[in-house]
Amino acid sequence: MYRLLFDLVFRRMDPERAHEVAFGLIGFVGRAPLLRRLVAPLFAVPRTGAVRVWGRELPGRFGLAAGFDKNARAVEGLAMLGFSFVEVGTVTAQGQPGNDKPRLWRVLDRRALRNRMGFNNDGSAVVARRLARLRATEHGRSLVVGVNIGKTKVTPAEEAAADYATSASRLAPYADYLVVNVSSPNTPGLRDLQSVEALRPILEAVRVAADEATASAGVAPVPLLVKIAPDLSDEDVDAVADLAAELGLDGVVAVNTTIGHDLGPGGLSGPPVLERGLDVVARLRTRLGPDAVVVGVGGVTTPADALEYLAVGATLVQGYTGFIYEGPAWASRIGRALAADARRAEAA
Ligand code: FNR
Repeated sequence: MYRLLFDLVFRRMDPERAHEVAFGLIGFVGRAPLLRRLVAPLFAVPRTGAVRVWGRELPGRFGLAAGFDKNARAVEGLAMLGFSFVEVGTVTAQGQPGNDKPRLWRVLDRRALRNRMGFNNDGSAVVARRLARLRATEHGRSLVVGVNIGKTKVTPAEEAAADYATSASRLAPYADYLVVNVSSPNTPGLRDLQSVEALRPILEAVRVAADEATASAGVAPVPLLVKIAPDLSDEDVDAVADLAAELGLDGVVAVNTTIGHDLGPGGLSGPPVLERGLDVVARLRTRLGPDAVVVGVGGVTTPADALEYLAVGATLVQGYTGFIYEGPAWASRIGRALAADARRAEAA
């Protein structure tokens, strides 16, 4: 059914326009409590898939990756579709328009996407107000929301730490976890911040800013993670892992889109990223030991792909591109498969 809709309607539309239409609908239904209660049971994920991470219970291990809901406008609707957690963002300190269009392309023969969006977002002050409104309701507080932060394009690299810290201090009180994104290919110089020398002051500044903000809001400290690119060498993956361990970070998200393709500008996502994503997650698990939280993302299309991430050591799994190609039932299909797998594991 979705395949028909995709082929007849979405495929013929500009990809960004198709995103806006679908996104608007998801947001609308999610914000209307009656409609939401009607729709949610269709996509519900059984509680047998629940898992404790960072001292709190998540309804399941499969969530939405950053970039889909950059401005935290549709969290309720996305959770309604069966995503056990939603990572909003990337949010930057100042709002910015992102790159000129076109900036999003479908790679139909590989069921992949290529994008050079460039962190188009409303900025951390606006997104913080939106999240405050979400958290003002009991339902909004029950949802697991990660917030992914990045550097404002016009901020020079030397001032990156302060830029990230500004966003952290505004957003930490409303986040279940914060992700420092240093791996998107579409902000010039951003990925250079993955080097240990550049990353250390950013993570330290974000930790301090987040702790001050949560303490003054009277809420618990927020778990802090870093998100890395699939294009890092194995040695660089190890170096980031060692830094994360040294600084007592609460996890690593791997991986972002790849620049390892010849299709034009921008980062590639979807199936072409799966193999490297699994490699990086396996490497992180070995390096960080059994207790660390590793969030695996990149190229998940089927429940088997998500299970593969868990098998190589992911604690949680995310996806984005699969949602575009597989449609609204995708998250619940994967969530249900992971729950069934957890049930089988328990019974064994
Ligand atoms: C992304 N991704 C992304 N990641 C991030 O940390 N911040 C962002 O703003 C975005 N924006 C974004 C836009 C678009 C159009 C796509 C397709 C992707 C990357 C995303 O979160 C994920 O890491 C990769 O897409 C790999 O996962 P999938 O898509 O293969 O499941």
